[in-house]
Amino acid sequence: MATETASFGAGKRESHDASAFYRRRLLEHAPSVTTGEPQAPPDEIIDALFCSSSESMSEIPNDCVALMVTSPPYNVGKDYDDDLTLTEYLDLLRRVLAETVRVLEPGGRVAVNVANLGRKPYLPLNHHVAGILQDLGLLLRGEIVWQKARGAGGSCAWGSWRSAKNPTLRDVHEYVLVASKGAYRRSRIGRDTISKDEFLEATTSIWNIKPASAKRVGHPAPFPVDLPRRLIEFYTFEDDLVLDPFIGSGTTAVAAIETGRHFVGYDNDAGYLEVARSRIAAARGISAT
Ligand SMILES: C[S@@+](CC[C@H](N)C(=O)[O-])C[C@H]1O[C@@H](n2cnc3c(N)ncnc32)[C@H](O)[C@@H]1O
Repeated sequence: MATETASFGAGKRESHDASAFYRRRLLEHAPSVTTGEPQAPPDEIIDALFCSSSESMSEIPNDCVALMVTSPPYNVGKDYDDDLTLTEYLDLLRRVLAETVRVLEPGGRVAVNVANLGRKPYLPLNHHVAGILQDLGLLLRGEIVWQKARGAGGSCAWGSWRSAKNPTLRDVHEYVLVASKGAYRRSRIGRDTISKDEFLEATTSIWNIKPASAKRVGHPAPFPVDLPRRLIEFYTFEDDLVLDPFIGSGTTAVAAIETGRHFVGYDNDAGYLEVARSRIAAARGISAT
């Protein structure tokens, strides 16, 4: 039997009718759903890597990318990081995300992996990035907690040991913020490839995925292939185009190849793109040279 949003408590969710909730004034600020036609991406950008800043992605025409998945630089002092103020850093992300919105097809999605930083004070980047996505008119869909470790591992940055003087939290997770352009539903259909088990895992908001080894990959901060792979299979159809504007060592491209999708990527460091080319060749089972 169908249920509806209850004024007291909540029951089972099958065939749940949430229209009473969505009529409430709490959501009256939300952008309205729009329609539009996706465009076919031109051949020149299919499976291409560009060595330039993704603040301008002029090679990519409007409305042709099904999913953007990325992990931006965190501005924390990695080899590739500039020393930007918070305002300068968020402005960089805003420019890249605005370009992303332009190239996304109607109903296309963004999935941005961010970690919160520091402790004195704590810098909630997930909050800032969600604000930017919303300011750009995207429809927020949710926030995945990427649990990287079950325990605190070797870290002993607990502040005052067993004392309330100044105990400190140690993050064992990062976030993936997900939003859609114009509409929650894709405006066209294609072939899905996700397995039943992966789908059930993907629909819960906590994803347990082991981090990647920077040393093995040859990049200071790669994410594990399993993270973009699950996002790609969850949010796109076979043969769709997936963009990573900060592609680094090419992890998103590897995940796209492994799932039968296409990729397009940007990074402003030629050395990382070389690493990406080798990994892409390996994923295709061919030599990089
Ligand atoms: C966190 S890393 C991404 C790592 C990637 N997910 C991987 O698995 O290898 C961020 C990347 O953004 C690149 N980057 C920094 N600023 C950039 C910009 N303005 N445009 C394009 N790439 C940029 C850096 O060179 C770095 O490789």
